[in-house]
Amino acid sequence: MANLSTIAILNQRKGVGKTTTTLSLGMKLAEQGFRVLLVDLDPQASLSAVCGVSESEKGTLASVFGGSLPGKVGLQDILRDILPEHCCYLAPADLALAQSELGLIFRIGREHVLKAALDTISMEYDVALLDCPPSLGMMTLNALNAADTVLIPVRPELNHLRGICLLGTVIERVKREINPYLSILGVVVTYYNHTLSHHRKAVRAIKAAGLPLLPVGIEESKAVSENGSPDVDPAISVSGDSQAMNHLADYVSKWINRHESKKYGIERKSEIDFDTIDKDKSK
Ligand SMILES: Nc1ncnc2c1ncn2[C@@H]1O[C@H](COP(=O)(O)OP(=O)(O)OP(=O)(O)O)[C@@H](O)[C@H]1O
Ligand SMILES: [Mg+2]
Repeated sequence: MANLSTIAILNQRKGVGKTTTTLSLGMKLAEQGFRVLLVDLDPQASLSAVCGVSESEKGTLASVFGGSLPGKVGLQDILRDILPEHCCYLAPADLALAQSELGLIFRIGREHVLKAALDTISMEYDVALLDCPPSLGMMTLNALNAADTVLIPVRPELNHLRGICLLGTVIERVKREINPYLSILGVVVTYYNHTLSHHRKAVRAIKAAGLPLLPVGIEESKAVSENGSPDVDPAISVSGDSQAMNHLADYVSKWINRHESKKYGIERKSEIDFDTIDKDKSK
């Protein structure tokens, strides 16, 4: 049985830290011994660029996806080793992925292309992190169909909240129509600065809206509360803070292990009990 756990990193808002979170989290998980595959689903190719892959003679995801006709290249053939001392590979993108996205519209089974490609390498990796573009187009739909769960990076701004609720609706629809096993891993706050009251207010609003805020960074908030500012929230600034990224990686690795166990039928308990997490936080 394949043991790949697939996580879509998604928010249709631009510049919320999706790519940064994908790369930092992927590298941390690889350091922990997971076999990691990063998938750049954005025609802007920011993830490929930060990994130092600007052009690839081996081909890019566009040659795997194809367009109105299937691609001729296998996913395995385009992968690039980006962290030689650990197992961390990249499926790079380029602008041609925008053409693929247009072509896919005319293709039968268009939302299954990524899932089929990932199935071909599912024995070689433990986790695939899908860096989605800032849109709800065909690449994102492919990601949601291929994913087991969704991680939502969000900026602590009140005007971003409506977008996350909309995303929740899209995820529910995908769940109903094409991927019944899709879950939400959680919302992770990026760019958080606890000294800014509008950031604290936004994080409170995320919780009040019932969104599953990840419990990473709790220790930091304790430290600050001891200094007498109880209003500080346990949210974190992911990419700017490697300790916070370690927390996130630990949290995600626990999820991966639980997910793998479930696949093998060893453990069949619920995945993450966000109610309990919320109660713990309010102590
Ligand atoms: N927590 C953070 N604090 C400060 N700067 C950050 C943080 N996370 C990301 N950045 C910076 O913000 C910019 C946008 O981040 P990133 O590319 O990860 O966002 P994105 O959501 O992938 O954007 P896009 O929607 O365009 O794909 C980058 O220059 C990145 O270095
Ligand atoms: Mg990006």
